[in-house]
Amino acid sequence: MSGLLCFLLCLVMVGLANSAKFDELFHPAWALDHFIYEGDVVKLKLDRYSGAGFASKSKYMFGKATILLKLVEGDSAGTVAAFYMSSDGPYHNEFDFEFLGNTTGEPYSVQTNLYINGIGNREQRLNLWFDPTKDFHSYSIFWNQRQVVFSVDETPIRVHTNMEHRGIPFPKGQAMGVYSSIWNADDWATQGGRVKTDWSHAPFIATYKSFEINACECPATVAEVDNAKRCSSGENKKYWWDEPTVSELSLHQSHQLMWVRAKHMVYDYCSDTARFSVMPAECVHHHH
Ligand SMILES: *[C@@H]1O[C@H](CO)[C@@H](O)[C@H](O)[C@H]1NC(C)=O
Repeated sequence: MSGLLCFLLCLVMVGLANSAKFDELFHPAWALDHFIYEGDVVKLKLDRYSGAGFASKSKYMFGKATILLKLVEGDSAGTVAAFYMSSDGPYHNEFDFEFLGNTTGEPYSVQTNLYINGIGNREQRLNLWFDPTKDFHSYSIFWNQRQVVFSVDETPIRVHTNMEHRGIPFPKGQAMGVYSSIWNADDWATQGGRVKTDWSHAPFIATYKSFEINACECPATVAEVDNAKRCSSGENKKYWWDEPTVSELSLHQSHQLMWVRAKHMVYDYCSDTARFSVMPAECVHHHH
């Protein structure tokens, strides 16, 4: 077999090997009776009594978490599904995907946000270039010491770059869990809260198919600083998330991101001068 062929095949095989069953990586975090298991598929149900959520069994530093998700079909107004990574405590870091439902025929919105040392207010919103209720699509969060990248079907939709050299804090010292949930948020989610959840259309169901966490696992018994050291490349170990090829977007990915921002972005906190009298520091230096 030629080296290149093996390289490609081996990549595919590693990809398959890493795609795990739900209960290898996760457990239900709340409302166990709102989980439906159908083979490799896991469904989370929202009705007027409860939503549901799951959490990873472990915490991680750096790497990538990916899910395949099909969102609530038909009328999903008022509902929010989320996929996120978060650390614990008052100064926690968090990387969020929030999928805001809509009335039948109107587009879902995808909101992303980052909390750094306990502070969020970094929302961006976009409409997708496909209907996320018709099929499974992949949503992933990639994280290393240089950047946090949110991707949809491997197309980057947001990059948060490390600008610590300008004195801007970057989330990198805390191990993070991986989470997903669905709940009722009709006080704000759809058209600013004007459209309420229509419970006659319940249950609202988010469907998950495949789960991948390709990251450095951090045992709870190990101190945060030691985890940071363990999960960073050194003389004797090289982690894939520290490779130069993923230290920033490729040219192709930069073009994809520019396309997403030009065609699909509907809100960016960095352009919201009514909200911020002083622009957040990372916005001032942002290239995008
Ligand atoms: C819902 O649809 C309306 C009308 O197309 C749109 O303005 C809005 O951004 C969509 N998303 C949400 C979350 O309201």
